[in-house]
Amino acid sequence: MISLKSSREIGIIRQAAEVLKRIFIEVEQVIAPGVTTDTLDQIAEKIIVGAGAIPAFKGYRGYPKTACISVNQEVVHGIPGSRKLREGDIVSFDIGAKIDGYYADAARTWPVGTISAERMKLLRSAQKSFEAALKAYKSGARIGDLSAAIQASIEEDGYQVVRDYVGHGIGRNLHEDPQVPNYGEAGRGYKIQDGLVLAIEPMVTEGHYKVRTLEDGWTVVTEDGKWASHYEDTVAFIDGAVVNLTCGEK
Ligand code: MF3
Ligand code: CO
Repeated sequence: MISLKSSREIGIIRQAAEVLKRIFIEVEQVIAPGVTTDTLDQIAEKIIVGAGAIPAFKGYRGYPKTACISVNQEVVHGIPGSRKLREGDIVSFDIGAKIDGYYADAARTWPVGTISAERMKLLRSAQKSFEAALKAYKSGARIGDLSAAIQASIEEDGYQVVRDYVGHGIGRNLHEDPQVPNYGEAGRGYKIQDGLVLAIEPMVTEGHYKVRTLEDGWTVVTEDGKWASHYEDTVAFIDGAVVNLTCGEK
């Protein structure tokens, strides 16, 4: 079932989104060789709680932490811990917050210190494909139009698209219908309506797109050990246009 949100509801999601934007600014500044992923998690939790919000992931299906932090060949759902970031790593930081019963969800992948130009391209490819999805939106567009735009962008960059995890509707629940695959055919799927709110989250792999979950039951890694990047924003469709709630000035 797809729930369309009123402007009042989107206003609340926007408040949760503002908290995530602040977290990205703070966490990005702290990322450096030697910093543990737990340190980043604690910064995020402090900001969320300080804003009167609730960490969206903590306790979700038993997930133990506030952020998901995935390094190098880890694709998504890495659990923060004592691991120290190293020069040349890439770190995906995925965070959600809930205010007054409404969720926002977003992720960035950042370099640790200096990384190769090649790796920088991998990291940018996820955001670039996300932006291609927004560009593909026009009134009357369907989910498949966004999916196809993401896939084309990533494959043009010479990378692959993870199939096993997809974007999603978001609102009173962290994950709502419709699913937003990062691959697929234009013209297919749900026709986007005003009031729809989506978390669009492409995951890009250097090598094969196949992934597996580690023994901890959460951390998703590439099967071939090659590296991956992830980008996510929560966006709302309002008056025939798409508004990015977790990125930008306002
Ligand atoms: N942002 C991710 C998602 O959209 C993470 C949620 S999984 C959780 O699916 F368990 F950590 F919450
Ligand atoms: Co998400």
